[in-house]
Amino acid sequence: MRQATLHQLKVFEAAARHSSFTRAAEELFLTQPTVSMQIKQLTKTVGLPLFEQVGRRLYLTEAGRELSTTCQQLFEQISQFEMTIADMKGLKQGNLRLTVVTTAKYVIPRLLGPFCQRYPGIDVSLTVTNHDQLLDRLTANQDDLYILSQPPENQDISCRPFLENPLVVMAASNHPLAKESHIPLPRLAEEPFIMREPGSGTRRAIQKLFDDQAIAIKVRLELGSNEAIKQAIAGNLGISVLSLHTLALEGASSEITILDVEGFPIQRHWYVIHPAGKQLSVVARTFFTYLLDEGKAIAEQTVLKLIQKPAA
Ligand code: PGA
Repeated sequence: MRQATLHQLKVFEAAARHSSFTRAAEELFLTQPTVSMQIKQLTKTVGLPLFEQVGRRLYLTEAGRELSTTCQQLFEQISQFEMTIADMKGLKQGNLRLTVVTTAKYVIPRLLGPFCQRYPGIDVSLTVTNHDQLLDRLTANQDDLYILSQPPENQDISCRPFLENPLVVMAASNHPLAKESHIPLPRLAEEPFIMREPGSGTRRAIQKLFDDQAIAIKVRLELGSNEAIKQAIAGNLGISVLSLHTLALEGASSEITILDVEGFPIQRHWYVIHPAGKQLSVVARTFFTYLLDEGKAIAEQTVLKLIQKPAA
């Protein structure tokens, strides 16, 4: 492998990621014959085929999969090295890869604003997904840091809470329960309920509460996004339980209100986590510290003050 060049490995990594020489060529601003030639030379160096063509699709061979994993580790190390060197030069620069659960998308971009202004050399890639998909990304070590409300119990992780994330009961503003206070929890079983999709952490928290109280709710609709659920609530399709933060930017004229139900809000937190043994890059460490030291205050000054508070 000493004869293999970094350039060849870069070309191979892009082709493996896209399962296509054409798309690798597009990404790297190369011609397709150049990509084919680089991979041919690399294949010769390795001494085993790296790709196989089945029908019109391109697949990695076993040797190709091994090389692909090696390339990912290699490029990760190189980018860590670049960030460390930049840090030694007094600069914070590099990439920050974050994955957050859907409820955090209402707050995290507000926290990224001042962070990116302070560190203009840091580029951020933010993935928003549900709880289960976030755990898949964590297991595959795809990002630097993850933000979620229910840290996994069976994985070795480093985990710190940084902000509250309460769940509240929401209904249309003109809903008959809107004017009532201290609504008993079992009363909710009489209302059509709009539920998040399987795999959602919000759904799991709601289910646990109702299961613990042996209350059977009537799920009328299942929707895969908080925004779609809010539209369905406003459209009088039913009530739901969502993070209070989904009401950010709703304003005083919102068609959604928070019901005063006993046992609510369900108090939860957002946690910033990463695999326990993971060597955080300089950039990831900087964001980790920023979240813990300043996240709450900045969230309160920006987005949280816009949110109508739940009834006490
Ligand atoms: P979810 O997670 O998007 O999977 O519902 C949100 C949360 O747990 O706060």
